[in-house]
Amino acid sequence: MLKGKKILLGISGGIAAYKSMYLIRLFRKAGAEVRVVATESAMWFVTRVTIESLSQNKLYDKVFGEDNDYTTEHISLTDWGDVFLVAPATANIIGKYANGIADDALSTSLIAFDKKVFMAPAMNCKMYDNFAFQRNLSYLKQNHAEIIEPASGYLACGYEGKGRMEEPEEIFAVVEKYFSGKKDLEGKRILITAGPTHENIDPVRYIGNHSTGKMGYAIAEELAQRGAQVQLVSGPVNLELKNSSIQRINVTGADEMLKVCLEIFPEMDAAILTAAVADYKPAEKHDKKIKRDDQPLMLELTPNPDILASLGKIKKEKQILAGFALETDNELENARKKLQNKNLDFIVINSLQDEGAGFGTDTNKISILDNKNQVSGFDLKSKKLVAVDIADKLASCLKE
Ligand code: CTP
Repeated sequence: MLKGKKILLGISGGIAAYKSMYLIRLFRKAGAEVRVVATESAMWFVTRVTIESLSQNKLYDKVFGEDNDYTTEHISLTDWGDVFLVAPATANIIGKYANGIADDALSTSLIAFDKKVFMAPAMNCKMYDNFAFQRNLSYLKQNHAEIIEPASGYLACGYEGKGRMEEPEEIFAVVEKYFSGKKDLEGKRILITAGPTHENIDPVRYIGNHSTGKMGYAIAEELAQRGAQVQLVSGPVNLELKNSSIQRINVTGADEMLKVCLEIFPEMDAAILTAAVADYKPAEKHDKKIKRDDQPLMLELTPNPDILASLGKIKKEKQILAGFALETDNELENARKKLQNKNLDFIVINSLQDEGAGFGTDTNKISILDNKNQVSGFDLKSKKLVAVDIADKLASCLKE
């Protein structure tokens, strides 16, 4: 399961650092590659020689250093890793990560990492119970990291209580399980639309919008990772796909997007339409560039087809259809109308009133309303983690 996987192991300064040496061994034995990033304090507990001998890779513990392979080693390292596991994770590194502080090799690497993060806290039980630490931990738990809870028992400081880092075998098992992955969408055929549409005015100009396509692409990646066969119909965006199993069809305008979707949808088990389709297109097609003159230019616009509603009309009983609703006010009421009018199974609501939600950001804050009138609210999260929530909802609808 772990063969060829790339594990970034962060070690911060706690006595449990010695146990991380076993972790390196376990990962290496399972065929994974390991690179270690350590804090200065971690190096009081373990040595460079031990880490480098076990991992067979150079230790990264200084942001600036003459021996660094690259001047931006934290970026090349974080691009390299498939997952980032911090074990032991002290109160300090958890506090830094939760609050965006980057002042050493480990915290700088963490802040540059945008994939799966695991943290295995280890500390004295009074530190563990501290209000600020608990606030940071619960923030990370809800949003950005999977916490491998510490065990209760005898602590190195002589106290009994919660704070002892989970055993290396257990930590290893959690990471292994992640890679064995949920395959709850195995074989499901799913259509995703993403990005904006560009409605051509003439050969050099178009009407468009600020959609980057990030949310739709994140959903496509998550579904594919869970075993789905994904067809991604994408408007013009600047994004690349990581999962090569995703079939991407590039389109420009809404008419073209509709045509492709109508062809594909009958073969699909589900469709999630995230594209920010332009509501209008120029009524007249200009084959030649419109020349500038000093007179006002009137552009007549005509409505674009509603792709989601069109699919809603041809949806078969077993197919699941979902859409997005970007609202500025009266969110739930407006979304409910869209859900009903477009014959959807569920609708993902973005409110532009929420900071960090909507176009261009790497985060999103959503609620999901389904056709049984159930509403689930979620915290502000990275679009990757939002994609997990949406994929969970889709998987449960497909099961019903
Ligand atoms: N959508 C679509 N085709 C369109 C417009 C929207 O497929 N021509 C889809 C979007 O991909 C999204 C959902 O419909 O999943 C909602 O889009 P939104 O712009 O919020 O809603 P509209 O129906 O356009 O309503 P309004 O602009 O009035 O809010």
